[in-house]
Amino acid sequence: MFDLTFWGHACFLLSGEGREKLVFDPFISENQLAPVKVEEIKADYILISHAHWDHLGDAYEIARLNGSTIISSSEIAKKAAADGLNAHPQHLGGRSFQPFGSVKLTLAFHGAGIEGGHACGFVIDYYGKKIYFAGDTGLFSDMKLIGELDPLDLALLPIGDNFTMGIDDAVMAASFLQAKTVIPYHYNTWPLIEKDPEEFKQKVEQKTKSNCVILPPGGSYTF
Ligand code: NI
Ligand code: MN
Repeated sequence: MFDLTFWGHACFLLSGEGREKLVFDPFISENQLAPVKVEEIKADYILISHAHWDHLGDAYEIARLNGSTIISSSEIAKKAAADGLNAHPQHLGGRSFQPFGSVKLTLAFHGAGIEGGHACGFVIDYYGKKIYFAGDTGLFSDMKLIGELDPLDLALLPIGDNFTMGIDDAVMAASFLQAKTVIPYHYNTWPLIEKDPEEFKQKVEQKTKSNCVILPPGGSYTF
C-alpha cells in the first residue's frame, strides 16, 4: 500500500511504509493553505517540474535539512548541484532508474522559470505503481502517448486555469490519459485560480472511465 498526500497547490508526498519519500514541487512556507511546516518534511527525493516560485518553493531548504536528491531538468539540477545540493539531471523524454523504480520526464507546455530550460512533468514507477504528475501545463494531445506507454494508476492534473489547464481541458487530458484515478491540483491557492473541484470530478466521471479523488490540503489517498 502506498500513500499520496496533498500538501496544497502542486505539492504532493508519495510514500509507503519503509519506502523512499518523494516530494513534488514543495511550495510550503509561502502557501497559507499548506498543512505542514518545512522543518517537518522528510524527503529522500524532491522532484521539481519547473523553477517558478510556486514549484521550486522550499526545495532547497528541504534538501539541505534531509540530504534529499533533487530530480529535475538539467538546468535546475545543475544549478542545485552548483549550489551544493545533491541533484540528478534529466531531460524531456528520458527515464532514469532509481531505487524505488524509475522517473521519466514528460513534456509540459509552460515556462521553465530558468534560463535555457523547459518545464516538465513526471511519470514515476513507484514499486510497480505508475503515477503521472503533469506539472504546470496546457492541454496537449500527446498525453495519449503518456498513458499508452505507461498504463497509469494515478494521474495528477492541474485544473486552476489562467496559468495551466482549466477544468474542461483537464477533463480532456483525463480522457487521453485513461488513468484508473485522477486527482486535481493547482486550484484555490489564490483568487485567480479559484475552481470547484466537484465540477471537475463530476465531468471526469461522466466523460471518462477514470474515477476522481479530491484531496483537501493534508488529505491522503491510499492505493
Ligand atoms: Ni508555473
Ligand atoms: Mn504554478
